[in-house]
Amino acid sequence: MSHEVFNRVAEAYDAARPGYPGDLYDALADLSSVPLAGATVADVGAGTGISTRGLLDRGARVVAVDPGERMLARLVARTHSPRAVVGDGNALPLRSGSADLVCYAQAWHWLRPEESIQEALRVVRPGGAVAAWWNTLDLGAGSAGWLVAHEMRLAESCPGYWGPALPEWHMPPIAAVMAEAGLGVREAWVHWTREVGVDDFLLDLRSHSYVAAMEGDAVDRLVARLRAGLAEVFPGGRLRVPMRVYLAVAPRADG
Ligand SMILES: C[S@@+](CC[C@H](N)C(=O)[O-])C[C@H]1O[C@@H](n2cnc3c(N)ncnc32)[C@H](O)[C@@H]1O
Repeated sequence: MSHEVFNRVAEAYDAARPGYPGDLYDALADLSSVPLAGATVADVGAGTGISTRGLLDRGARVVAVDPGERMLARLVARTHSPRAVVGDGNALPLRSGSADLVCYAQAWHWLRPEESIQEALRVVRPGGAVAAWWNTLDLGAGSAGWLVAHEMRLAESCPGYWGPALPEWHMPPIAAVMAEAGLGVREAWVHWTREVGVDDFLLDLRSHSYVAAMEGDAVDRLVARLRAGLAEVFPGGRLRVPMRVYLAVAPRADG
Protein backbone atom coordinates (compact mmCIF):
# COMPACT_ATOMS: atom_id res chain seq x y z
CA MET A 1 0.00 0.00 0.00
CA SER A 2 1.39 3.38 -0.98
CA HIS A 3 0.58 5.06 2.31
CA GLU A 4 2.68 2.44 4.15
CA VAL A 5 5.71 3.43 2.05
CA PHE A 6 5.07 7.06 2.98
CA ASN A 7 4.59 6.19 6.64
CA ARG A 8 8.17 4.82 6.64
CA VAL A 9 9.59 8.10 5.34
CA ALA A 10 7.26 10.58 7.07
CA GLU A 11 10.09 12.40 8.88
CA ALA A 12 12.25 12.80 5.75
CA TYR A 13 9.19 13.86 3.78
CA ASP A 14 8.21 16.48 6.28
CA ALA A 15 11.73 17.83 6.71
CA ALA A 16 12.83 18.10 3.11
CA ARG A 17 10.05 18.08 0.51
CA PRO A 18 9.58 21.45 -1.16
CA GLY A 19 6.45 23.52 -0.73
CA TYR A 20 4.55 25.10 -3.60
CA PRO A 21 5.15 28.62 -4.90
CA GLY A 22 2.66 31.40 -4.24
CA ASP A 23 1.90 31.54 -7.98
CA LEU A 24 0.49 28.00 -7.75
CA TYR A 25 -2.14 29.05 -5.22
CA ASP A 26 -2.96 32.14 -7.32
CA ALA A 27 -3.42 29.94 -10.40
CA LEU A 28 -5.60 27.54 -8.38
CA ALA A 29 -7.91 30.39 -7.35
CA ASP A 30 -8.00 31.82 -10.90
CA LEU A 31 -8.68 28.57 -12.74
CA SER A 32 -11.26 27.34 -10.22
CA SER A 33 -12.93 30.76 -9.74
CA VAL A 34 -12.93 29.89 -6.02
CA PRO A 35 -11.20 32.51 -3.81
CA LEU A 36 -9.11 30.58 -1.29
CA ALA A 37 -9.84 32.94 1.61
CA GLY A 38 -12.86 31.47 3.38
CA ALA A 39 -13.16 28.45 1.07
CA THR A 40 -13.76 25.00 2.53
CA VAL A 41 -11.11 22.72 1.03
CA ALA A 42 -10.71 18.96 1.25
CA ASP A 43 -6.97 18.31 0.92
CA VAL A 44 -6.94 14.66 -0.14
CA GLY A 45 -3.63 12.83 0.32
CA ALA A 46 -2.58 15.65 2.64
CA GLY A 47 0.44 13.75 3.97
CA THR A 48 2.47 15.76 6.45
CA GLY A 49 0.56 18.93 5.58
CA ILE A 50 2.71 20.79 3.06
CA SER A 51 -0.31 21.56 0.87
CA THR A 52 -2.63 21.91 3.88
CA ARG A 53 -0.49 24.67 5.40
CA GLY A 54 -0.21 26.44 2.03
CA LEU A 55 -4.00 26.52 1.78
CA LEU A 56 -4.47 27.53 5.44
CA ASP A 57 -1.96 30.37 4.98
CA ARG A 58 -4.26 31.75 2.28
CA GLY A 59 -7.30 31.75 4.54
CA ALA A 60 -8.93 28.47 3.51
CA ARG A 61 -10.67 26.15 5.99
CA VAL A 62 -8.99 22.83 5.30
CA VAL A 63 -9.94 19.25 6.09
CA ALA A 64 -6.89 17.05 5.58
CA VAL A 65 -7.58 13.44 4.53
CA ASP A 66 -4.95 10.71 4.28
CA PRO A 67 -4.80 6.96 5.05
CA GLY A 68 -1.25 7.31 6.43
CA GLU A 69 -1.49 7.73 10.19
CA ARG A 70 2.19 8.65 10.64
CA MET A 71 1.99 11.23 7.87
CA LEU A 72 -1.12 12.74 9.45
CA ALA A 73 0.47 12.70 12.91
CA ARG A 74 3.22 14.95 11.53
CA LEU A 75 0.57 17.18 9.97
CA VAL A 76 -1.25 17.53 13.28
CA ALA A 77 1.99 18.23 15.16
CA ARG A 78 3.13 20.92 12.73
CA THR A 79 -0.11 22.68 11.80
CA HIS A 80 -1.98 25.36 13.70
CA SER A 81 -5.61 24.23 14.40
CA PRO A 82 -5.51 21.18 12.12
CA ARG A 83 -8.61 19.26 11.03
CA ALA A 84 -7.33 15.86 9.97
CA VAL A 85 -9.19 12.65 9.17
CA VAL A 86 -7.71 9.23 8.45
CA GLY A 87 -9.44 8.20 5.25
CA ASP A 88 -9.27 7.04 1.66
CA GLY A 89 -9.58 9.40 -1.30
CA ASN A 90 -11.61 6.79 -3.17
CA ALA A 91 -14.31 6.87 -0.46
CA LEU A 92 -14.02 10.23 1.26
CA PRO A 93 -15.27 10.48 4.86
CA LEU A 94 -16.95 13.79 3.99
CA ARG A 95 -20.55 14.86 3.40
CA SER A 96 -21.90 15.39 -0.13
CA GLY A 97 -21.64 19.01 -1.28
CA SER A 98 -19.56 20.00 1.75
CA ALA A 99 -16.45 21.44 0.02
CA ASP A 100 -15.76 24.37 -2.29
CA LEU A 101 -12.61 22.62 -3.50
CA VAL A 102 -11.37 19.05 -3.47
CA CYS A 103 -7.59 19.15 -3.96
CA TYR A 104 -4.94 16.52 -4.51
CA ALA A 105 -1.40 17.91 -4.09
CA GLN A 106 1.11 15.37 -5.35
CA ALA A 107 -1.41 12.65 -4.47
CA TRP A 108 -4.05 11.82 -7.09
CA HIS A 109 -1.81 9.25 -8.83
CA TRP A 110 -2.19 7.03 -5.74
CA LEU A 111 -5.98 6.87 -6.16
CA ARG A 112 -8.24 4.87 -8.45
CA PRO A 113 -8.74 7.30 -11.35
CA GLU A 114 -12.44 7.25 -12.26
CA GLU A 115 -13.68 6.34 -8.78
CA SER A 116 -11.78 9.15 -7.08
CA ILE A 117 -13.07 11.81 -9.49
CA GLN A 118 -16.67 10.64 -9.01
CA GLU A 119 -16.09 10.77 -5.27
CA ALA A 120 -14.66 14.28 -5.48
CA LEU A 121 -17.70 15.38 -7.51
CA ARG A 122 -19.95 14.02 -4.77
CA VAL A 123 -18.13 16.06 -2.11
CA VAL A 124 -17.66 19.30 -4.03
CA ARG A 125 -20.59 21.70 -4.04
CA PRO A 126 -22.09 23.06 -7.29
CA GLY A 127 -19.90 25.97 -8.38
CA GLY A 128 -16.86 24.47 -6.69
CA ALA A 129 -13.98 22.63 -8.35
CA VAL A 130 -11.70 19.61 -8.27
CA ALA A 131 -7.97 20.33 -8.60
CA ALA A 132 -4.70 18.43 -8.66
CA TRP A 133 -1.08 19.50 -8.90
CA TRP A 134 2.40 18.03 -8.93
CA ASN A 135 5.76 19.66 -8.27
CA THR A 136 8.52 18.32 -10.48
CA LEU A 137 12.05 19.09 -11.53
CA ASP A 138 12.16 21.17 -14.70
CA LEU A 139 14.34 19.30 -17.16
CA GLY A 140 12.85 21.16 -20.13
CA ALA A 141 14.78 23.09 -22.75
CA GLY A 142 17.18 25.55 -21.16
CA SER A 143 17.30 23.59 -17.90
CA ALA A 144 20.56 23.30 -15.95
CA GLY A 145 22.91 20.61 -17.31
CA TRP A 146 23.85 19.53 -13.78
CA LEU A 147 20.21 18.74 -13.00
CA VAL A 148 19.80 16.61 -16.12
CA ALA A 149 23.02 14.72 -15.22
CA HIS A 150 21.88 14.25 -11.60
CA GLU A 151 18.50 12.91 -12.63
CA MET A 152 20.08 10.56 -15.20
CA ARG A 153 22.33 9.14 -12.45
CA LEU A 154 19.26 8.60 -10.28
CA ALA A 155 17.37 6.90 -13.12
CA GLU A 156 20.30 4.54 -13.81
CA SER A 157 20.74 3.53 -10.16
CA CYS A 158 17.16 3.24 -8.99
CA PRO A 159 15.15 0.33 -10.46
CA GLY A 160 11.73 1.82 -9.69
CA TYR A 161 12.61 5.33 -10.88
CA TRP A 162 9.75 7.20 -12.54
CA GLY A 163 10.52 10.79 -13.41
CA PRO A 164 11.46 13.37 -16.02
CA ALA A 165 14.73 11.66 -16.99
CA LEU A 166 12.70 8.93 -18.73
CA PRO A 167 11.47 9.69 -22.26
CA GLU A 168 8.18 7.89 -21.52
CA TRP A 169 7.55 9.84 -18.28
CA HIS A 170 4.37 11.89 -18.20
CA MET A 171 2.12 13.65 -15.74
CA PRO A 172 -0.68 11.51 -14.28
CA PRO A 173 -3.62 11.55 -16.71
CA ILE A 174 -6.03 13.44 -14.51
CA ALA A 175 -7.05 15.88 -17.28
CA ALA A 176 -8.21 12.97 -19.47
CA VAL A 177 -10.11 11.35 -16.58
CA MET A 178 -11.79 14.66 -15.72
CA ALA A 179 -12.76 15.16 -19.37
CA GLU A 180 -14.17 11.61 -19.53
CA ALA A 181 -16.29 12.52 -16.50
CA GLY A 182 -17.78 15.34 -18.58
CA LEU A 183 -15.84 18.15 -16.90
CA GLY A 184 -14.18 21.11 -18.58
CA VAL A 185 -10.49 21.06 -17.65
CA ARG A 186 -8.17 24.02 -17.22
CA GLU A 187 -4.42 23.40 -17.04
CA ALA A 188 -1.38 25.50 -16.15
CA TRP A 189 2.36 25.12 -15.64
CA VAL A 190 3.89 27.25 -12.89
CA HIS A 191 7.67 27.66 -13.05
CA TRP A 192 9.79 28.45 -10.00
CA THR A 193 13.27 28.05 -8.55
CA ARG A 194 13.94 26.07 -5.39
CA GLU A 195 16.88 27.22 -3.28
CA VAL A 196 17.98 24.35 -1.09
CA GLY A 197 21.04 22.93 0.69
CA VAL A 198 22.49 19.71 -0.66
CA ASP A 199 21.62 17.79 2.54
CA ASP A 200 17.94 18.69 2.28
CA PHE A 201 17.93 18.00 -1.45
CA LEU A 202 19.21 14.47 -0.80
CA LEU A 203 16.92 13.94 2.20
CA ASP A 204 14.00 14.88 -0.04
CA LEU A 205 15.13 12.13 -2.42
CA ARG A 206 14.86 9.54 0.37
CA SER A 207 11.17 10.41 0.76
CA HIS A 208 10.27 9.48 -2.84
CA SER A 209 8.37 6.22 -2.94
CA TYR A 210 10.69 4.63 -5.53
CA VAL A 211 13.72 5.34 -3.31
CA ALA A 212 11.90 4.41 -0.08
CA ALA A 213 11.07 1.03 -1.63
CA MET A 214 14.79 0.14 -2.11
CA GLU A 215 16.22 -2.51 0.19
CA GLY A 216 19.10 -2.54 2.69
CA ASP A 217 21.97 -0.07 2.27
CA ALA A 218 21.21 0.51 -1.43
CA VAL A 219 19.73 3.92 -0.59
CA ASP A 220 22.87 5.02 1.29
CA ARG A 221 25.08 3.96 -1.62
CA LEU A 222 22.83 5.78 -4.08
CA VAL A 223 22.79 8.97 -2.02
CA ALA A 224 26.60 8.89 -1.65
CA ARG A 225 27.00 8.62 -5.43
CA LEU A 226 24.61 11.50 -6.07
CA ARG A 227 26.25 13.62 -3.36
CA ALA A 228 29.64 13.20 -5.06
CA GLY A 229 28.18 14.36 -8.38
CA LEU A 230 26.55 17.43 -6.79
CA ALA A 231 29.72 18.37 -4.87
CA GLU A 232 31.60 18.78 -8.16
CA VAL A 233 29.11 21.44 -9.30
CA PHE A 234 28.18 23.04 -5.95
CA PRO A 235 31.24 22.95 -3.68
CA GLY A 236 29.45 25.45 -1.38
CA GLY A 237 26.55 23.01 -0.94
CA ARG A 238 23.75 25.42 -1.95
CA LEU A 239 21.60 24.49 -4.98
CA ARG A 240 19.27 26.48 -7.23
CA VAL A 241 16.90 23.91 -8.68
CA PRO A 242 14.62 24.71 -11.66
CA MET A 243 11.12 23.42 -10.83
CA ARG A 244 7.68 23.48 -12.37
CA VAL A 245 4.23 22.61 -11.08
CA TYR A 246 1.56 21.08 -13.29
CA LEU A 247 -1.96 22.13 -12.25
CA ALA A 248 -5.24 20.71 -13.56
CA VAL A 249 -8.56 22.20 -12.42
CA ALA A 250 -12.10 21.08 -13.26
CA PRO A 251 -14.88 23.41 -12.14
CA ARG A 252 -18.16 21.67 -11.33
CA ALA A 253 -20.35 23.18 -14.02
CA ASP A 254 -23.78 22.91 -12.38
CA GLY A 255 -23.19 25.79 -10.00
C1 LIG B 1 3.40 12.51 -2.15
S1 LIG B 1 2.33 12.60 -0.74
C2 LIG B 1 1.59 14.22 -0.88
C3 LIG B 1 1.42 14.92 0.44
C4 LIG B 1 0.99 16.37 0.42
N1 LIG B 1 -0.27 16.57 -0.25
C5 LIG B 1 2.04 17.28 -0.20
O1 LIG B 1 1.68 18.15 -0.98
O2 LIG B 1 3.21 17.12 0.12
C6 LIG B 1 1.06 11.51 -1.22
C7 LIG B 1 0.09 11.19 -0.10
O3 LIG B 1 -0.99 10.44 -0.66
C8 LIG B 1 -1.43 9.57 0.35
N2 LIG B 1 -2.28 8.51 -0.21
C9 LIG B 1 -1.93 7.30 -0.67
N3 LIG B 1 -3.01 6.59 -0.99
C10 LIG B 1 -4.09 7.38 -0.74
C11 LIG B 1 -5.50 7.20 -0.83
N4 LIG B 1 -6.05 6.06 -1.30
N5 LIG B 1 -6.31 8.21 -0.44
C12 LIG B 1 -5.79 9.39 0.00
N6 LIG B 1 -4.46 9.59 0.12
C13 LIG B 1 -3.62 8.61 -0.23
C14 LIG B 1 -0.14 9.05 0.98
O4 LIG B 1 -0.36 8.50 2.27
C15 LIG B 1 0.69 10.31 1.00
O5 LIG B 1 0.59 10.99 2.24
